[in-house]
Amino acid sequence: MSSGLILAVETSCDETAVAIVDGGRRIVASVVASQVALHAASAGIVPEVAARAHLRWMIPVLDEARQRAGLDDMSRLEAIAVTEGPGLAGSLLVGIQMAKTLAWLHELPLVPVNHLEGHIYAAWLLDPGEPEKAAPEFPLVALVVSGGHTFLVEMADQLTYRLLGQTVDDAAGEAFDKVGRLLGLPYPGGPAIQRAAEAATACDRVFPRAWLGETFDFSFSGLKTAARREVARELGADPEQGPPDDAPPLPASSVAELAYGFQESVVDVLASKTIRAAQGAGARTIILGGGVAANSVLRARVEQGARSLGVPLVVPRPGLCTDNAAMIGAAGWFRARAGARAGLDLSARPSLKLALPQGA
Ligand code: KG4
Ligand code: ZN
Repeated sequence: MSSGLILAVETSCDETAVAIVDGGRRIVASVVASQVALHAASAGIVPEVAARAHLRWMIPVLDEARQRAGLDDMSRLEAIAVTEGPGLAGSLLVGIQMAKTLAWLHELPLVPVNHLEGHIYAAWLLDPGEPEKAAPEFPLVALVVSGGHTFLVEMADQLTYRLLGQTVDDAAGEAFDKVGRLLGLPYPGGPAIQRAAEAATACDRVFPRAWLGETFDFSFSGLKTAARREVARELGADPEQGPPDDAPPLPASSVAELAYGFQESVVDVLASKTIRAAQGAGARTIILGGGVAANSVLRARVEQGARSLGVPLVVPRPGLCTDNAAMIGAAGWFRARAGARAGLDLSARPSLKLALPQGA
């Protein structure tokens, strides 16, 4: 693969991130300023708060990334890549403004990148010093599971997507966050539920599985209702009414059991559908991406299925599954090669999609 340094900017949600990536694969520097602590108090993201935090951190994160990469001379760059969507409009605009300014100032091409494509291309990344390894082979099937998105796509080639299925209601990460909150766990719910579930000793709480027939679609909203019922039952309240507002915290053993049962349900459906899709597509690679792909139980379950199919699984390390700019640098390199360019009138596309539904 030929080289070409890309500086990438990502601010679509609650991480302010800048990375410098070589040849669509090798991370030279990647800096992420997380707003998790800021949003923990409100147990969710307040868009205005997120946008203001991006403004506060954009320049320091850029400076840090340039310093780590030893990038004094911006003319060494091939292009500036930036997330144009989907995401929060106010947050996206901070990164877009930064990228436009850099592109204009240093007379570099500006390359718009879809955030969801970034989560898939995280599978191409190599850390600094990591030994070379083969790039994912096509056709491939990718499961992207994040706080805002849950979908399965098939890729016959670079930048070519066929949507196989998606969530019909909540995203998987959203379900983790909502159920985490019901269980009295800290925000974000995903890592907290995974940790709590590790302490489960009795594992007989069975949460429903929404298989939705033979489709590759997902549904997670019923799980939140099931969790509400279980928590109320645990507290001796009416399951149909849910837990009372002034309910005491659940005992740690109940939290662990419920976290385990919930996680099993989500992982079972995600892993089964991914493996079935890979089998149907004759996939030569399976990719997992997005924040929920940081979940060790999901990773292990898909790994097991992939091994039985004899198909290699690529899951980026957890820090590259959650939002970062290196993944935008990887996707941006392939986009740049394909001739994608934006003008200085580039704007945020909060509802940008990756692919049309099958048959559309
Ligand atoms: O991709 P991401 O960083 O941001 C979005 O683009 O949404 O994903 C964040 C989501 C959150 O919902 C968080 O709870 C979930 O990823 N998450 C996890 C884990 N780590 C992060 N979910 C399950 N298990 C984890 N270990
Ligand atoms: Zn994301």
